Amino acid sequence: MKTIPPLGIGTKFHRVVILTGAGVSVASGLPTYRGPGGLWENEELAKIVHAESIPTRLPELWKLYSERRATALSVGPNAAHRAIADAQKRWPGQVFVITQNVDNLHQRAGSENIIELHGSGFRTRCTKCSASPFYDEASYETLPLCCVCGAPLRPDVVLFGEMLSEKVIAQSTAALRGCDLFLVVGTSSVVIPAAYLLLDAYDAGAHCVSVNIEPSRHENPYLHDEFMGKAEELLPILLAT
Ligand code: APR
Repeated sequence: MKTIPPLGIGTKFHRVVILTGAGVSVASGLPTYRGPGGLWENEELAKIVHAESIPTRLPELWKLYSERRATALSVGPNAAHRAIADAQKRWPGQVFVITQNVDNLHQRAGSENIIELHGSGFRTRCTKCSASPFYDEASYETLPLCCVCGAPLRPDVVLFGEMLSEKVIAQSTAALRGCDLFLVVGTSSVVIPAAYLLLDAYDAGAHCVSVNIEPSRHENPYLHDEFMGKAEELLPILLAT
């Protein structure tokens, strides 16, 4: 088996953007969305996480996200999350994390300035007024209501059919400016606009690399290299000094 050298962050590369997907949380015990055992194998669940579920199917949405909160709280970050957090600490201001995940595991591993493309499963906001979204670990049996306006609250995640927030789009664009290494880790790259970030990085002249248990490069002309394997095993090597 060929030995894999570190990618050279801090020596060869000085502005690194890491885009993560559900694959980085598999080693923590959380399911992916697609593929064997994926969340969306349950077609009913896949129907609920749509913009049209607000407000009529909010109770079902809260049941799903209450369960996902409890599951995510019952596990911990794994070596993939820790390798990314360590790289951010070793090279302050040079390693940026853009995640599609809403499980809060990057935060719990110590990563900072995380760009949460699809929101957070641990944030709750009002469906109606502009009351500030708030950190929330609660599981709700009944529909929570806004203490400011009385309207129903919702998980602050991006549902299918909803737009990403202007803020995370601006943050992602800024992170990619001058990016010289773009890592796509543990994502099927089928959801846009997240998947388009690779194209932006490629156009910015970054060296684009994927880390996945499945081959990606032959399907994706924007990748310069790929490392096939588990993120929890490869990232500690690739992100090492
Ligand atoms: N290491 C690396 N990659 C892995 C591992 C692992 N240990 N285990 C699984 N993978 C890969 C799979 O091969 C797959 O390519 O992780 C990817 C998971 O793909 P998805 O389940 O589609 O998850 P993701 O790409 O994050 O989904 C994107 O879709 O439904 C929406 O909002 C949801 O943010 C999510 C978005």
